[in-house]
Amino acid sequence: MARSRRKSAEQLRSHRWYGVSDLRSFGHRSRTKQMGYGRDDFAGKPVIAVVNTWSEINPCHSHFRQRAEEVKRGIWQAGGFPIELPAMSLSEPFVKPTTMLYRNFLAMETEELLRSHPVDGAVLMGGCDKTTPALIMGAVSMGLPFLFVPAGPMLRGNWRGRTLGSGSDAWKYWADLRAGAIDEQAWNEIEDGIARSPGHCMTMGTASTMTSAAEALGLTLPGAASIPAADSNHARMATASGRRIVDMVWEDLTPPQILDKAAFHNAVRTAMALGGSTNAIIHLIAMAGRAGVDLTLDDFDRLSRSVPVVANIRPSGAYLMEDFYYAGGLRGLMMRLADKLHMGCLTVSGLTLGETLVGAEVHDADVIRTIDDPVFPEGSTAVLRGSLAPDGAVIKPSAAEPHLLQHTGHAVVFHDYNDMAARIDDPGLEVTPDSVLVLQSAGPLGAPGMPEWGQLPIPKKLLEAGVRDMVRVSDARMSGTSYGTCVLHVAPESHVGGPLALVHTGDRISLDVPARRIDLLVDEDELARRHALWQPPPPPYPRGFGAIYARHITQADKGCDFDILASTEPVSEPEIH
Ligand code: FES
Repeated sequence: MARSRRKSAEQLRSHRWYGVSDLRSFGHRSRTKQMGYGRDDFAGKPVIAVVNTWSEINPCHSHFRQRAEEVKRGIWQAGGFPIELPAMSLSEPFVKPTTMLYRNFLAMETEELLRSHPVDGAVLMGGCDKTTPALIMGAVSMGLPFLFVPAGPMLRGNWRGRTLGSGSDAWKYWADLRAGAIDEQAWNEIEDGIARSPGHCMTMGTASTMTSAAEALGLTLPGAASIPAADSNHARMATASGRRIVDMVWEDLTPPQILDKAAFHNAVRTAMALGGSTNAIIHLIAMAGRAGVDLTLDDFDRLSRSVPVVANIRPSGAYLMEDFYYAGGLRGLMMRLADKLHMGCLTVSGLTLGETLVGAEVHDADVIRTIDDPVFPEGSTAVLRGSLAPDGAVIKPSAAEPHLLQHTGHAVVFHDYNDMAARIDDPGLEVTPDSVLVLQSAGPLGAPGMPEWGQLPIPKKLLEAGVRDMVRVSDARMSGTSYGTCVLHVAPESHVGGPLALVHTGDRISLDVPARRIDLLVDEDELARRHALWQPPPPPYPRGFGAIYARHITQADKGCDFDILASTEPVSEPEIH
């Protein structure tokens, strides 16, 4: 049911800049006219920020210049005044050491851009991994009406007639190259064919997981997250989003009306049914914190047990996002989950989730399975606790070798990434397929930025012997496009003296996913002795963003938000002058 207009032009936030009669407003109007606009273009209209994360180094957003124009077309059509505000691009393939170091800074940038300018509502344009949670976190903290325009997945990759998926097939064929199963010529052809159009990774990686979670939260127009970036439907969705945000401003449809606990539970269940990225746990906990919703690791485990993986998409399944779209997309999947979702949740469309799903269908039952014929019988993620991870750790059982889900082995410890890179392929490394590879100093503070190093490479000599999976444990994250028996996000991290810091090569580690346990089988006296000898390492960065990050970052189980941002305290508006 569409909502009615609740605001007058004088009640618009932008009226304080444009509508009053004083010297400052004269400046705002004359400077807007300097850019070629007339008073009729902006007077009394909702001013809509189009927050655009386009850059020339972000291939996932390379269509965003054009899409921003299409969003603006919709804003004009609906009687709004668009202003495009560029924001940090956070290009996942290029930013070192990791975009995660900058997620909270993009959130801060978004919040401050909206606060400091004459903005009544916002369209957020993102999709490449961290951009989705960052933009939404910032906009939620600001509290203005907003909606999210997801970048859309790129088209399927292709090599010699074989379908290639972002990330997943890069890992797979890299392992084949190292094992001598393919040659350099083939590897170069794969490089040509794996990324064929604008758009984000088209496997069920972090990007597809988070844009889908944004839709399940009610923050996009219905069906938006599944549309491939290169499809003309994507351009039409962008224009429709521009039209809709203007109405949202008049309706005063703000984030607290949409983002309640039920909406976050919808997002978690949807992400689990998609076989989504483990990164979604960190991001959704942080996003919920901004919305004042208490979402914990235990909620993820409980909700995950209640939904099977029904999306047959790599890395948990066989297909890619383009196939998913043709099969009915996220609306089709959510229809499959209808009994498990809160259908009364309000969405940015002004309709409830249930109303937006009317008419949704599944057109290919192998791509979007039924709950009774799933790809994996439980949700994609399990939360572990135990003596190695007192505050929790996560694993993606749907992307792991089933026989490793209950396993005990001797640790082979790498003290940091460089140590691992130097020794992993050493023929003298004492490692067997039953060993447990352990990486330290890869957490939120230790790396810093908690990079996606958690899928430690299989040692070359084991690869050559045909081994493709081993138990791996770290305080790092893992790319959503990765697979393997990787225990991630161990908290507390080793950098702050968590038990992971105390593991020595040769210690026995026990993983029991059905029992949700990860344990270091070393007696307590010995661990106490090691802890007494442990020296805290120096802070990783002395200056700039890194120094601010190091002072304020929280641990993985808290979503890695900054302690100064994770609240719902009202923030005062800028003074009129
Ligand atoms: Fe941008 Fe994967 S690199 S989404």
